[in-house]
Amino acid sequence: MLWLKALHLILMVTWFAGLFYLPRLFVYHAMASDEISNGRFTVMERKLFYGIMTPSAVLTVVFGVWMLWAYAWNLYGSMGWLHVKLLLIILLVGYHFWCWHLLRDFATERNVRSHVWYRWFNEVPVLFLVAIVLLATVKPF
Ligand code: HEM
Repeated sequence: MLWLKALHLILMVTWFAGLFYLPRLFVYHAMASDEISNGRFTVMERKLFYGIMTPSAVLTVVFGVWMLWAYAWNLYGSMGWLHVKLLLIILLVGYHFWCWHLLRDFATERNVRSHVWYRWFNEVPVLFLVAIVLLATVKPF
């Protein structure tokens, strides 16, 4: 059980490393205007998204569901914090897919958003991180 939780947390950290760094790459990519920089950012974004972020997201969810199945399923009805946490995770997965969509726009030179827009977009995962960690640790309800 503790092994599952440790793996859940390690993979959550690597997922969030990507959720923070990929939109930051988008900020710099939106400011770049030469071919060499555009090509380099595209490769960095692709490797981060497919090599680190997506496998980490899948495994975080796998270990979370595994813990639920292994010991908490009979308590599920009384775990209000977990219901809200799962709702936030659905939204977070939506954010992950939005990143994928933006990555494809950059790769095909169809990005229309400014670096200022990406700076705001970059702040969104902070809100998810604070809310989900508070729910999972403090368990307020
Ligand atoms: C479908 C996805 C997920 C499921 C089903 C899930 C489920 C769980 C379960 C059952 C626990 C054990 C709770 C306990 O021992 O009290 C747990 C722990 C935890 N989860 Fe998740 N989780 C998911 C995703 C996430 C994500 C995305 C984050 C972070 C943003 C996260 C953060 C945590 C933290 C910090 C703990 C440790 C809580 C503690 O021991 O005090 N989880 N999760």
